[in-house]
Amino acid sequence: MPSPAKRYLITGGTGKVGSRVAEQLVTSAGVPAADVLVATRDPAKTKVPYGTLVAFDWFDETTWPGTLAGGPAIYIISPGTMDPLPTVRKFVGLAREAGSRRFVLQSGSPVPEGGPTTGAIQRYLHELGDQGLIEWASLRPTWFQENMSEQEARRITLRDEGKFYSAAGDGRIPLVSVHDIAAVAVVALTRKEPLNSDPFVLGPELLTYDQATAIMTEVLGKKIEHVKISEQELAELWVKVGLPAEYAKIMGQMDTGIKHGAEERESNAVEVLTGRKPRTFREYVIAEKASWL
Ligand SMILES: NC(=O)c1ccc[n+]([C@@H]2O[C@H](COP(=O)([O-])OP(=O)(O)OC[C@H]3O[C@@H](n4cnc5c(N)ncnc54)[C@H](OP(=O)(O)O)[C@@H]3O)[C@@H](O)[C@H]2O)c1
Repeated sequence: MPSPAKRYLITGGTGKVGSRVAEQLVTSAGVPAADVLVATRDPAKTKVPYGTLVAFDWFDETTWPGTLAGGPAIYIISPGTMDPLPTVRKFVGLAREAGSRRFVLQSGSPVPEGGPTTGAIQRYLHELGDQGLIEWASLRPTWFQENMSEQEARRITLRDEGKFYSAAGDGRIPLVSVHDIAAVAVVALTRKEPLNSDPFVLGPELLTYDQATAIMTEVLGKKIEHVKISEQELAELWVKVGLPAEYAKIMGQMDTGIKHGAEERESNAVEVLTGRKPRTFREYVIAEKASWL
């Protein structure tokens, strides 16, 4: 029988989505803050408004057992490596021994099951689910609206230069808010019946970056320009702000995918699963206006 957990472990709990998952577990789902474990590599240096900090590092297995008491349901933000499956498989094994039954992965819209990085984790969870060993979901959000305000390099460039660089050309994207991803995550973690599926988690409208920056221009009252550059130029920009070359190359390639229509899809998963409409890009810019002024 499906049995929602009493405790929740949010890996990536201090990040863009994980912090909102912790917030909504406490404020919307009514889970006591003591039972919402917010994983971070350095609890001593971190403060969070919702939940209880717990030391956790994907690359330090000694930190793992301390997060698993009581067999929590687990939100998985993948270790940011090109081959995260061996690490995640080991962790999921330990968690299952501790009694964890429900696992919700944050993957991404461009990554199919069995594909690279989180695609491999999704396949693994799906297989365990099909064997009746776990309850699972893999959320597949598209690009976050909040990248504009919470990826510091992007935010500063927008604020100081009034520019948004991309290799996405005139490709359209259903930019999604991290608040809506978190709302879907909370349903996937807490609902009695597990999702056992991989919903696309998308915003309500398909926008080009020209259209997105036009909305920013209007709301901010200052010119924000979409600068169209090549895949290689974009990869170089990402390397300049500290991304490993291999990862930067993939970021460039994904923009080329957007240019050719890879993100042109629609989904009503947010509304169906949470009962409310996802946030528009305009609503996001109005709410976060101060980030770019
Ligand atoms: N940005 C997008 O548009 C987008 C779209 C679709 C999917 N995604 C996927 O979303 C994921 C990232 O989620 P996010 O943007 O919410 O995260 P984020 O804001 O980038 O934050 C990263 C989180 O990972 C934690 N972390 C980093 N290294 C760690 C380690 N070695 N062990 C344990 N935790 C570690 C950090 O915690 P501490 O620093 O506190 O330890 C932090 O909470 C990625 O898998 C990405 O592919 C992103």
